Amino acid sequence: MSDASSHTGPLRHFLQFRDFSTTEIQYVLDRARLIKDKFKRYQPHHTLHDRNLAMVFEKASTRTRVSFEAGMYQLGGSVIHLTTNDSQLGRSEPIEDTARVISRMVDLVMIRTFEQSRIERFAAHSRVPVINGLTNEYHPCQILADIFTFIEHAGPIQGKTIAWIGDANNMAYTWLQAAELLGFCLHVSAPNGYKLDPQRVGPVTSSVLQEYADPMEACRGAHLVTTDVWTSMGYEDENEERRKAFADWCVDAEMMAAADPKAIFMHCLPAHRGEEVTGDVIDGPQSVVWDEAENRLHVQKALMEFLLLGKIED
Ligand code: CP
Ligand code: NVA
Repeated sequence: MSDASSHTGPLRHFLQFRDFSTTEIQYVLDRARLIKDKFKRYQPHHTLHDRNLAMVFEKASTRTRVSFEAGMYQLGGSVIHLTTNDSQLGRSEPIEDTARVISRMVDLVMIRTFEQSRIERFAAHSRVPVINGLTNEYHPCQILADIFTFIEHAGPIQGKTIAWIGDANNMAYTWLQAAELLGFCLHVSAPNGYKLDPQRVGPVTSSVLQEYADPMEACRGAHLVTTDVWTSMGYEDENEERRKAFADWCVDAEMMAAADPKAIFMHCLPAHRGEEVTGDVIDGPQSVVWDEAENRLHVQKALMEFLLLGKIED
């Protein structure tokens, strides 16, 4: 088996966005550009030849599974797909023991799970890099793809305004970490009961975060308007309550008109047309959601390469 000890530096994980420095995020984004360009030209890019990725899914997925799986094969490696129910995780094997075992057999692990503490416990007992494929608290791979997509469509993100409309969920907190690292301003509008938790936010300047009661005000002048489902995975019991609370937090043409004239729209998907976004917005000319979904593939290939090989040039 290939050996993750070919790492040139200390073991690194990507459990939340701020696990990487600004320079490292910039490197991964630049590398993703090169990897995407080669992919579009059908040029092989087998930098992870013979490497093996284990993917552990404790929640459902379409994009995360396909992008990691296709991405690893395209890099010359292979994958193992595990879920809670088809592994001993579903029969209460401790996450620490699972980490010790899996990480002796593969080069890299991606996990989608519930509490952030669960992925942190896994990483603390892993011999190989661990990637967060979504937890209740964060979704860093998605934000990496979103920022790459923003840059493709609208240029540098530094100094720009991003409007987050809806639940202060895993996506919103990851956007906030990205705003602090990359120097843009996040406007957040969420209904009462679903706003950002000031304790989790901590000290932050108004150049990084501005909160609005009215979603229309949050959109004003924004270069990107983005939203997500009203009910994230794991919170389904709150569905009815949330439907009522979020009724006014539907991104529609009026909100897009309040944004910058060149504003784009993003949604990490899956989307519910008629709930958090209208069909005319998500299927309209300002929407870049399909590029956003595709870019998961390219940024994650760059991420996996960086975690296993560090900075490389070729
Ligand atoms: N956006 C995203 O992570 O999609 P999946 O849940 O389909 O993986
Ligand atoms: N916030 C959503 C994102 C899905 C990709 C969830 O956690 O279910």
